Amino acid sequence: MTNKAARNLFIFGSLFFFVIFLGLTFDTMGKLDKRAPEITEKVNAGKMAWHKYDCIGCHTILGNGSYFAPELAKITEKKPKGYLKQFLMDPKAVNPGASMPKLGITSEEADNLLTFLDWTAQVDTNGWPPKPILASAVGAGGKESSAGQRLYQSMGCSGCHMINGIGGTTGPDLSRVGSTRDRAWLAGHFRDPQAYVPKSAMPKVEAPDADIEQLTDYMLTLK
Ligand code: HEC
Ligand code: HEC
Repeated sequence: MTNKAARNLFIFGSLFFFVIFLGLTFDTMGKLDKRAPEITEKVNAGKMAWHKYDCIGCHTILGNGSYFAPELAKITEKKPKGYLKQFLMDPKAVNPGASMPKLGITSEEADNLLTFLDWTAQVDTNGWPPKPILASAVGAGGKESSAGQRLYQSMGCSGCHMINGIGGTTGPDLSRVGSTRDRAWLAGHFRDPQAYVPKSAMPKVEAPDADIEQLTDYMLTLK
């Protein structure tokens, strides 16, 4: 290579990568603002309550905090707000096995906290934290899943219930529910849990009759 060629390679090579560098910088700056929604006064109030009760002493949020209790950044996508509000104000009243203490959170603070957690749920984290292994794994092993089983998966039941060791612990384990409950009880309870279990924290299953029937069929196979 001649001196001239080397010089040109140096100059044009540097220019080329400098332009790419500028392009990527502008691209990043353009995206940064859109990664999180606007911070309103309620979001701010929720964040203050978050600090007041030292939630981070037990929980992680966007990965920061303590590992005693679950990550909360995406919790409002997983569980209904009505349930979460009840839980925040008195965990043991909705889930007797809960180890989160009753912190004395007021109704207004609970609303603000949920607005704050709604805000964190909208932060684009590139898919982090990874989704937990849900009941999609249940009944695998080559067997076709039934319609009811697919509904169970798509309706997020496993966020609260466990079947054969997979799922959440907010509600009772359903692995054997087919031997303890009958069709009428199950279908009625789906439509209106509180009519069967006073103060139940389970949300009503808002679905057409056909879906309720298929879910019930699936429950009855769990023995
Ligand atoms: C002393 C530890 C502790 C503190 C402090 C604490 N939590 Fe929890 N929290 C837990 C534990 C443990 C769980 C898991 C469920 C259970 O066993 O109670 C939990 C569960 C939750 C859940 C999920 C409930 C569910 O069913 O998935 C939410 C929401 C929550 N906490 C919010 C908060 C907020 C908001 C604060 C602060 C105001 C807070 N927690 C403070 C220990 C704590
Ligand atoms: C937010 C949490 C939550 C979600 C989501 C949820 N459940 Fe529940 N579930 C509960 C709680 C808490 C109970 C205990 C109180 C009660 O029986 O109503 C319960 C009770 C039940 C029971 C009665 C168990 C028994 O024998 O006492 C069945 C069956 C059930 N759930 C099925 C489902 C199905 C199917 C779905 C999805 C369509 C679902 N649940 C979604 C929290 C939840």
